[in-house]
Amino acid sequence: MARITALLFASLFLSPLSAASPTRASPLLASRQDTDNEGLHSLMLAAGKLFFGTATDVRYLDNKAHQAIVQNPNEFGMIVPENSQKWGELEKEDKGKVDFTNTDIIAAQAKGNGQLFRCHVLVWGAQLPSYVTSTSWTEKTLSDVLQAHITTTVTHFGSQCYSWDVVSEALSSSPDSNTLSTTSLFHQVLGASYIPFSFYWTSLAADPSSKLYYNDFNLELSPSKAQGAVDIVHLIRNYTSPTGEKNKARIDGIGLQSHLFVSSVPSLPSLTSTLELFTNLSLEVSFSELDISHSSLSPSPNATQIEQQEKDYMTVISACLAVKGCVGITVWGFSDKYSWVKDAFPGKGGGCLYDENMKNKGSWFAVAEVLRRAGVVRRGAVAVDASLDGEVAVAVNSTTTVEGEGGGGGGRDPDEAVRKAARSGELMRGVNGTELMVAAGEEVGDAQGKGQGVVNGARRWVVTGWGGWVVVMGWGFWGFWGILSS
Ligand code: G3I
Repeated sequence: MARITALLFASLFLSPLSAASPTRASPLLASRQDTDNEGLHSLMLAAGKLFFGTATDVRYLDNKAHQAIVQNPNEFGMIVPENSQKWGELEKEDKGKVDFTNTDIIAAQAKGNGQLFRCHVLVWGAQLPSYVTSTSWTEKTLSDVLQAHITTTVTHFGSQCYSWDVVSEALSSSPDSNTLSTTSLFHQVLGASYIPFSFYWTSLAADPSSKLYYNDFNLELSPSKAQGAVDIVHLIRNYTSPTGEKNKARIDGIGLQSHLFVSSVPSLPSLTSTLELFTNLSLEVSFSELDISHSSLSPSPNATQIEQQEKDYMTVISACLAVKGCVGITVWGFSDKYSWVKDAFPGKGGGCLYDENMKNKGSWFAVAEVLRRAGVVRRGAVAVDASLDGEVAVAVNSTTTVEGEGGGGGGRDPDEAVRKAARSGELMRGVNGTELMVAAGEEVGDAQGKGQGVVNGARRWVVTGWGGWVVVMGWGFWGFWGILSS
C-alpha cells in the first residue's frame, strides 16, 4: 500500500492573486466571477463548512449597495448584529424597558434570506446600560439583574439563534496573560463566577440547539490567552449552581475574534494548533469577528501590502478549513466604509473584503480562491501526495480507490482530504478554476469546464481542464507539471 501524505505546493498555494490594486483580481478568478453566482458562503458550504458570515446592523439599512450584498445568502450565510443586541442597546432608555426592535429587524431579514443568525452578546463589559454602570451593586443585586437580562433576552430570541456569544472578552487584554480582566464590572462584583453563572442561566433558557460560545480577541495570537480560554471552559464545566446542580452550565464553542493586522497574522500551523486546543475539548470553533487591517492608511497601502493582506486572509481561511471542528468564519463587517477599526484606531483600517464603494477587493478574491480550491478537493479531486518516497497520491471521489495512509482505501473521507491539503498549506493550483478534477469524468463546478479523469490503478492520472491546460501527474514523480496546449 502506497504511503500517502499531502502534497506541498507552498508557492502555488500562497501565490499572489492580485497585487496592483485593491479591486483587481487575477484574470483566472475574474473569469469565474463572470460565469457563475458563487459567493463566499456558497463556496464555504462546498468546502464542507457551515457558514461564511458577516456582522451588520440597522444603521446600514439605508445603503442599498450594502444591503444587496448582506442579503445575498450565497455571499453570507450567517448574520450577526454588530451592536443592536448588546445589553446597552436593548435597554437604552429606562431600566427594565427592553426594546428588541432593531435586532428583530436584522433577525427577520436573516430568516427571510435563509441565513443563520448569531446572537451577540449577552455578557460583555462594554456597551452596558447606563443604570448598570452607575449603580452600586452587591453580589445579590447584580446576580439578579444579570440573570434577568440573560433569561429575558435568550427567551425572546429562542431558536432563532444558531449560537449565542454568552460571554465576551472576560480575559485580560495583556498579551501574555491568562488571567481574567479585572476591569469588568462583573468581575469586580462577582469575581470569576460571573462566567459560569452566565453560561448556567443561558443553558437553562436557551434552545437546546443553540450553541453557547465564549468569544474573545487575541486568542489566535497569544498562547497564554488561549490557555486562559481553556481555563474558562473548565470553570464552566465544573460549575455548581447556587442550588447545587452540577454539569448544567453548557459551553459548545469558542469564537476567536481575529481582529488582525497585515503582516502580523499567525502562521498556519500556529492557527490550526490554537483551534485544535479547543476542538480537543470537544468544542466547535469559529473565527468570529475577522478583519485584517493595514496598520497605516497614510500613505495608502502599496501593492506589496495589499498582496500581504491577501495572503494573510488565505492563511486564516485555510486554518479553518484545516480543522474539522471549525464550523465557519464571520467577518466583522465586510466593507471598509463601515469598519469599526477606522473609528477605534484612526489611521488604520482597510481590513475588509469590500472597499468603501461595496466593490470586492483582492482580499475577497483571495478568500474565494482558497474556498474554491477546498471545495474542489472536497468534491473529489486532489489532496494528494508525493512528498515522501516519490509516491503519487490520488485523492479522488468516493467511487475511486485511494491507496495508502490518508487515503484509507476506497471511500476516502473527502473532508479529511480537504483538511490534509489545507494543513500542509497547499492545495494544488487550479486549472482555470477546475483544479485537478479527476473523479472519472465528473463534471466540475465550472459551467464550461469538464474534468476528465483517467485513473490507472491510482498510479497515474491525467486531467484535462477547461481552457486547454493539461496536467499530468505520474506515479513515482515528486510533483506535477502543467503544459499549456493551444
Ligand atoms: O449609537 C450611537 C449613536 O447614537 C451616536 O450618535 C454615535 C456617536 O458616536 O455613537 C453610536 O454608538 C456607537 C456604536 O458603535 C454604534 O455605531 C458607539 O459610539 C461605538 O463605540 C460603537 O462601537 C462598536 C464597538 O463594538 C463598541 O465597543 C462597534 O460599532 C462594534 O463594531 C464593536 O464591536 C466589538 C464586538 O461587539 C466585540 N468584539 C470587539 C468588537 C470591536 O470593538
